[in-house]
Amino acid sequence: MCGIVGFTGNSVAAPILLDGLSKLEYRGYDSAGIAVRDGDKDFEVVKAKGKLKSLIEMTDHGNAVKGTCGIGHTRWATHGEPSVLNAHPHASDDENVVAVHNGIIENFQEIKEKLSKSGYTFKSQTDTEAAVKLIDYYYKKYNLGPVDSIARAMMRIRGSYALCVMFKDYPGQIYTARKDSPMIIGVSDGQTYVASDVPAILKYTRNVYYIGNLEIAKLEKGSVTFYNIDREEITKTLTEIKWDAEAAEKGGYEHFMLKEIHEQPKVIADTIKSVVKKGRINFENINLTDEEMKNISQIYIVACGSAYHVGMAAQYVIEELTSLPVRVELASEFRYRKMKFVKDSLVIIISQSGETADSLAALREAKENGIKTLGIVNVVGSSIAREADNVFYTLAGPEISVATTKAYSTQLVAAYLLAIGFAKAREEITDERYKELLDEINTIPDKISRILEDKERIQWFSAKVAAVDDAFFIGRGIDYAIGMEGSLKMKEISYIHSEAYAAGELKHGPISLIENGTLVIGVNTQPELYEKTVSNMVEVKSRGAYLMGLTTYGNYSMEDTADFTVYIPNTDPLFAGSLSVIPLQLLGYYISVARGYDVDKPRNLAKSVTVE
Ligand code: G6P
Repeated sequence: MCGIVGFTGNSVAAPILLDGLSKLEYRGYDSAGIAVRDGDKDFEVVKAKGKLKSLIEMTDHGNAVKGTCGIGHTRWATHGEPSVLNAHPHASDDENVVAVHNGIIENFQEIKEKLSKSGYTFKSQTDTEAAVKLIDYYYKKYNLGPVDSIARAMMRIRGSYALCVMFKDYPGQIYTARKDSPMIIGVSDGQTYVASDVPAILKYTRNVYYIGNLEIAKLEKGSVTFYNIDREEITKTLTEIKWDAEAAEKGGYEHFMLKEIHEQPKVIADTIKSVVKKGRINFENINLTDEEMKNISQIYIVACGSAYHVGMAAQYVIEELTSLPVRVELASEFRYRKMKFVKDSLVIIISQSGETADSLAALREAKENGIKTLGIVNVVGSSIAREADNVFYTLAGPEISVATTKAYSTQLVAAYLLAIGFAKAREEITDERYKELLDEINTIPDKISRILEDKERIQWFSAKVAAVDDAFFIGRGIDYAIGMEGSLKMKEISYIHSEAYAAGELKHGPISLIENGTLVIGVNTQPELYEKTVSNMVEVKSRGAYLMGLTTYGNYSMEDTADFTVYIPNTDPLFAGSLSVIPLQLLGYYISVARGYDVDKPRNLAKSVTVE
């Protein structure tokens, strides 16, 4: 989705803005632009369609644009095609107000009509232009300054936004406001930064302010003043971001995705250590008591994309270890479902970014219904983390590749820990089983390292199948849930049509699509279901499928059926997904590389989907 960067200080602004925007490239975008001001001179606005590289070249790495105060934007088109005209920043007719915006202004047509009557004209197809001109309109009508005009516009605008605004009469100042779209402000050594996402400013400062919903901030060189929508000054505390700048760099790997795949043993171990102390699970940091866990009667897991796939796997684990029924829901569906919540239920929202619009809306829906909420979130201080009643932070660190790997894996482990914690608190597992599960969970990082040591085999196989048009992932139970994630990895970065099917459903349709050479990946790690899935694999093989089998060491009979077999170390079947997903991540990665695609920034996709 769109990215925002702003800077005011003593340094030349444009290189800082371009550098920040380059750190946000991973979010997905199709055009970019900056507006910079040299003292009280006119704004200089430069925009380019396509990659940020064009903007960097046009401005000689920013050196050709003078001034120490400016705003920048990478745009992911929602209203209006990707073009220079639609790219941000947008300005009011007389360039009194210049701004960039993330989010969607739902009533922009209505605002445009109102402003047209007052003589405003519109050059672009964007909703943003309406917001910029509305601020200009109130600024001139009431003559009460930037904060007042922004507050009035906020009251009129419906939708979501993070706005960075500069006013002609206020050189050296940037005004920001937000509703349901992330934005952070950093101050360091007399310079002030604003960005929609941490990596953009991590290099300059780790001390940030989170600007809240319906709040406004005035940024000046080295200082920030916050206001609520009633224009009253409010105070905020600085938060230190623990991620270090290096974590958001490639560190010698060709792509962020490969680097993040390799980080999994460490970040999983960190996430486990955050709640397992002296051989016992301790949810003190999450603020979850045994009493509360005992009284829950139903769990809803709500999420989008890969986080939803975590929910699918978690469902099997929680239901096996506890008596709790689990429903897994896509946030975009859940939020509009007219359903009655079961009394004493718990809604678990899983989200790497903590900003996914549908997941956030689902969380609010649950809260409005008086339902307890728990977020499994990676980004500290994100909206979901702040609004959920309880937060289980995954310690994946910054994830840059659009296709998630390490965040997914830490979410999965967090879900196992919750399942074990619930089972123990509700006295539904024995002490012996509890210990056995915790001992086993601690072996996951090393077992993943072992799988990674053998990645060349997957690389070889990937090159062999890179030209396929279709792929099917089949499995049962947890293996089905992992197949869903494997299939998503393949389609999102390799652009291969790919589907995951519960193996038992094959005969109800998809088997008719199997022909000579169709790639089928059979995920088969669950001992109780092994024979059944092998039968389904034989069925597709006999219809011409080219078959990859994914199973645990010992199941060597798999080689009688599959054309290529990948083995994972043995573990408790409940945790096998944490291991079987690794070869599937590598498969998606290496096929994308073999096909020559931009692995970290797949077309049309965004890292964090902050609009509906
Ligand atoms: C996007 C990302 C996915 C992610 C999904 C949910 O589609 O590309 O990798 O799984 O959003 O994001 P969240 O931040 O809520 O986990």
